[in-house]
Amino acid sequence: AVVRNLETLRRDGILIMPSGAGYLACGINGAGRLPEPEDIKAYLDDFFAKRDGDLRGRRILVTAGGTREAIDPVRFIGNYSSGKMGFALADECAARGARVILVSGPVQLRTHYPVYRYFGVESAGEMFEAATSLFDDADAVIMAAAVADYTPEQVADRKIKREKTGDMSLHLKPTRDIAAHLGEMKKQHPGKVLVGFALETNDEQHNAEDKLNRKNLDFIVLNSLNDKGAGFRYDTNKISIIDRNGKKDYPLKSKAEVAADIVDHLAEVMKRE
Ligand code: CTP
Repeated sequence: AVVRNLETLRRDGILIMPSGAGYLACGINGAGRLPEPEDIKAYLDDFFAKRDGDLRGRRILVTAGGTREAIDPVRFIGNYSSGKMGFALADECAARGARVILVSGPVQLRTHYPVYRYFGVESAGEMFEAATSLFDDADAVIMAAAVADYTPEQVADRKIKREKTGDMSLHLKPTRDIAAHLGEMKKQHPGKVLVGFALETNDEQHNAEDKLNRKNLDFIVLNSLNDKGAGFRYDTNKISIIDRNGKKDYPLKSKAEVAADIVDHLAEVMKRE
């Protein structure tokens, strides 16, 4: 019940400081102690120092997680995205004082810092509608979501039954590219900053540069599935940041540290805009 209640508070945008761990009044050891006063003070100092940070007053839209494309009422096409990178970015931006609007596919995550608005979506189409309608309210957009590129042309309204024999095929149609669409919209709003991701398995740099230009992004974060510990489901990531001035490589780090590197770069670009 306590866990449920804490979750309700978090969803209402309340920041919860983690409890201390140790010997508890009920006679067991574990998490649940009132933190020491000096730890509470350190936590608050850190919170307020960051909230006066370099993104204070900036409005940042973050897309996160993977999308689900329905096949029938019980099945969908999805991907391995956990949403961790997008949530780490939302957290980092919120911690540094930004007003974060987070649009996410279904995930089992929460932010530690309160976000300004949260929109849960399922499909690429829903994410497109949310992101494009929120674009006007954003100074920058970080597109960390793994958006489906194809969706079933028709969604069966009843569960598809197993056929007695033979193969089965689904006809898929392309989804709309959110990043490319926002890149088009940016032509009317040149001050906005667009950040994309590229997860590649081969010709990494070439593909990433192509996406940077094709989608009219300010910079793109490249992670390769060939790097150990990088990409889906891991808590670590290894990235390169590519913009029109070149490429910068970073070592393997936790997703929170990677988020700080990306947001440092974003803050620099926003300062120039
Ligand atoms: N993206 C998007 N909308 C889509 C597909 C991708 O906004 N329908 C965004 C992703 O969030 C990411 C960037 O575009 O920031 C690159 O995504 P990726 O899947 O690597 O690129 P694609 O254009 O889909 O190219 P491909 O799948 O051929 O590599």
